Amino acid sequence: MKTSALIDESGSLGHRRVLDFALRREAKVESPEVRVVVQSTIDESADRAAFRAGLLAKPATSSPKFFYDPQGSALFGAICELDEYYPTRTEARIFERHRAEIASVLPGGSQWVDLGCGDGLKARGWLEPAHARRYVGVDIAEPWLRSALASLVATLSKMPPSRSIDVVGVVADFTRPFDLHELLLEEPSMAPVFFYPGSSIGNFVGDDARAFLASVRDHIERHPASLPGKLMIGIDLVKDRSTLRAAYDDAVGVTAAFNRNVLRVANRLLDADFDLSAFEHRAIFNETHGRIEMQLVSLRPQTVHIGEAVRRFEQGEVMVTEYSHKYTVDGFATLLESAGFAGGDRLRCWRDERDWFGVFVAEPA
Ligand code: AVI
Repeated sequence: MKTSALIDESGSLGHRRVLDFALRREAKVESPEVRVVVQSTIDESADRAAFRAGLLAKPATSSPKFFYDPQGSALFGAICELDEYYPTRTEARIFERHRAEIASVLPGGSQWVDLGCGDGLKARGWLEPAHARRYVGVDIAEPWLRSALASLVATLSKMPPSRSIDVVGVVADFTRPFDLHELLLEEPSMAPVFFYPGSSIGNFVGDDARAFLASVRDHIERHPASLPGKLMIGIDLVKDRSTLRAAYDDAVGVTAAFNRNVLRVANRLLDADFDLSAFEHRAIFNETHGRIEMQLVSLRPQTVHIGEAVRRFEQGEVMVTEYSHKYTVDGFATLLESAGFAGGDRLRCWRDERDWFGVFVAEPA
């Protein structure tokens, strides 16, 4: 059977100038007939400049995307296994329990767009039941994307030829405006299904969540599909404060290590000299904004060098490293509608028995 893993070379993503000089490399993966071409549109120098500016600002901030170097990604994997961190498990249970019913509201023969695919394991359980014909993995981390695609292709090659799925991947940062239009086949029988599990949308700041959703809606709307394309998205719901706080400040200290790791990333990327032991992890629930705020608090007055720059931190000074917004079902439905998705009975939501997590399936209004 011929399974092709092709990372499209003709894609048109955000940052045209970067795209013009896109990374194009070929990697050998498990099967000799598989070709992986990675097209990267990550603008590393702009990212570094923004990272540095955030750390020098008052108050200091850092985007959550800087958590995910290989060590941070491994720590996040460990967080997902913690007793206190319920979202991953709870979402997986909703998927297991309602998979057939959820699949029944998705267009068959779809192009499955896995946003932030990581190891791709969450999507894998959907390709068969949803009768997907194409898989488009999108991730900011090229090494993860490569190994996810290689292992997906190895699994798919065991399927009968009649169930052949094209596997496509792209390295992209969709916390910035993104454009995947040219990576989607303009085939009316292959409606796009955008898959964004894990409540990662909770990490967007300000209006960026709505803008991201509007961009997904635009991708679906502009596709000439005969059946409506969909967005399937996992959302962490508001719940009692102690459960929320424990999920972001676990007893073993894995989340604290994950949080502090961003300082190690800064030391490496920005030639800084943060002392990790001089900052304390803190997670608070901000009632006004309905979000967990992850912070690093300076334990003493200290001076940090960030490249050529010098940043003084007072004792107790706070650096914000992540927001993780929690939604009500109605609140998230309103957000979807404000981004141009349909409400009412055209919006579906499946929840666990404790109402801790919701899986929404939405289509453009
Ligand atoms: C990736 N994201 C959805 C996680 C969250 O729950 O906001 C990141 C995380 N931060 C601390 N623990 C997990």
